[in-house]
Formats: sequence, structure tokens, C-alpha cells
Amino acid sequence: MMKITLPVIAVNFKTYLESVGEKGLEIAKAAEEVSNDTGICIIVAPQQSDIGLIASKVDIPVFAQHIDPFTPGSHTGYILPEAVAEAGAKGTLINHSEHRLILADIDEAIRRAKEANLKTIVCSNNPEVSASICALSPDFCAYEPPALIGTGISVSTAEPEVVTKAVELMQKVNPAVVPLCGAGISTGEDVAAAIRLKTRGVLLASGVVKAKDPKAVLQEMAESAQKTL
Ligand code: G3P
Repeated sequence: MMKITLPVIAVNFKTYLESVGEKGLEIAKAAEEVSNDTGICIIVAPQQSDIGLIASKVDIPVFAQHIDPFTPGSHTGYILPEAVAEAGAKGTLINHSEHRLILADIDEAIRRAKEANLKTIVCSNNPEVSASICALSPDFCAYEPPALIGTGISVSTAEPEVVTKAVELMQKVNPAVVPLCGAGISTGEDVAAAIRLKTRGVLLASGVVKAKDPKAVLQEMAESAQKTL
């Protein structure tokens, strides 16, 4: 399913070795099968070098993990929105906690991504920053408390009141932005809890990428998302 529908499960491959090259392709194929089986949209965000490989082999949305807010020309070691779009990306993460940008650059990155027809998931680290980001009109804003990232302790069950506050502030500033949350999401119940807190999906990484059986985890998550609809 190439169309982005809600709720969404977005899987950030980060720089885990378990998701590089052919291994990343395997996870993406598992995500495609689960998405076809359940009807739940699953986005994968591999490293830049794997976007072309994965986007050419699966029919689910592939996102970049980052783009630089530059125009084409004389820059070295950066990545243009047009380059990831040409490789097959349908969107991009921006301002992940592990790749932060200053506000002016987030604004420009969203603008440049739109020019390249890329959807944007912009990450935020607390409810107030989430609100500021929503003023810049990305497609999605993903609230992820840095302290819970990679811990397996889910934001949606450990800090439900902060998720609620983040969603409320985001909606107040810009109801057109789709709220997501992430950090520590590892089970179907974590996904269901996130949706019950009025997010429209999750952004996650280690719970799937480092799982013994990524497909089984994704299946459980997607079925759980389905049941909350
Ligand atoms: O981008 C997703 C992320 O930062 C959360 O990571 O490993 O806690 O799911 P993780």
C-alpha cells in the first residue's frame, strides 16, 4: 500500500546494522506483507544509501531519515530533498532527536521537502517544541522524549499525560498536522495506547529493527492498531 493512511506505523531504521542493505530490505518486505495483510500503513525509513534499493522493491512508503535544507549546487556531503525523491522516497523525517536542526533550518527543510513533493514527519522532544513545530505546518509531528528512546519503555504507557499535552498543544496550534508519538514503542499494546491518547500513529525503531522476528512484532502492532479503529 503506497498511499499514506491513518493510523500509521513508521519504522526508523537508524544506523542499526540489523537494517543495513539486504537486511533492511528484508524488514521492509516484512512491513509490506503486514501492511497488505492488515491494511495498516507502515512507513520505513532506511539509511540514505538504501533508499533506492528498498523503494524499488517494496510498495509501501519509504522515507529518508533526514534531508538538508539546501538548494542544488555547491555543497558537499549533504543530501537534497530532490535526491531522496529521485531515489524513490515519498517523505522524510526532519529534526530527529539524533539529528537536530535549529528552528530556522527546520522551517527551510519543510519548505524544501514540499518543493520535492516529500511528506514530512518532524520530530519534537517536548510538548512546547511540538507546538512550535506545528506552526511550521509539517504533515506530521512526532513527539519523542529523548530519555525513553531505545529503552523499550514506551512513551504511551510510561508518560501518557505528556503525550496528551503534546497532542493538545499541537492541535491547538495547527489542527492540520497529524500527531504521532514515539520512543520505546515495542508492542501492540504500546501502539494501541498511543492511538487511544489521540495520536494517529507511532514512530519507532529498536522494537522492530532489533527484534528477533521483526515481522511478528509488526504484525502484532498492526493488528492492535486495527482493533483500536
Ligand atoms: O525514530 C524513532 C525513535 O527515535 C524511537 O526509537 O528505538 O525507542 O523505538 P526507539
